[in-house]
Amino acid sequence: MIDIHSHIIHGVDDGPANMAESLKMIREAERLGISMIVATPHYQEEVFGLERLEENYKELLYKAKDYEVAISLGYEVFADPDGSALFKNKRRLSLNKSGAILFEFPFNASPQKCIELVFKLRMQRITPIIAHIERNRPFINRFENFVELIKAGCYIQMDTASIVGVYGSGVKEFSRRLLKMKFVDMVASNAHCASDYIDWYREAFKNVSNWVGKEEAGILFHNSPKSLLDGGYSEELSNAKILKWEKLV
Ligand SMILES: [Fe+2]
Repeated sequence: MIDIHSHIIHGVDDGPANMAESLKMIREAERLGISMIVATPHYQEEVFGLERLEENYKELLYKAKDYEVAISLGYEVFADPDGSALFKNKRRLSLNKSGAILFEFPFNASPQKCIELVFKLRMQRITPIIAHIERNRPFINRFENFVELIKAGCYIQMDTASIVGVYGSGVKEFSRRLLKMKFVDMVASNAHCASDYIDWYREAFKNVSNWVGKEEAGILFHNSPKSLLDGGYSEELSNAKILKWEKLV
């Protein structure tokens, strides 16, 4: 399995405080059969610059070299509705330099602003992936907002915690509905500590398998993130996906 959203870099955000905790996370991921992790620290330039983040990432790479888990770098970028600040760094901020950037929206963000941002990003030839949209109230409460968002061309990454009910039955049910409608592109851990892997990952895979079948679960946990990282999400594929969704809704 391939995990494209994980806070495994120590000392740069609300993830592990030190190297020992980072390595514990990698060890648990390895036990679960995860073969690749994209480290995605929260990116807020004013908190930690890219240099500091990349320095800790290189240190982690060196210490984790004996694990059977490949580690690459990306970021979880807090979406500023203007978006212009990140355009200059778009390649550096993308997941494993794939051209796809993982974003999180403010939890009560205006859906209209989010949708406008997705259009702006695509104009800049950035593939936007929205992290855990199933937890954003304005989208849970109005399904039309969600449909508009994906029709604008963004990819959807769901958290394992949402699938197992950590955020309540409402979020779990909304997650199940999105998965059954095939609106989700990939599932990732969004792990901040080792127990996030231990407690949620396997159970999430089981729930997704029960809801949509084991084959589809494999696509969500492995194939889809793999094609993303291999650079398989071209403009053409992205447009094809939008057309497919338009037929579904
Ligand atoms: Fe995250």
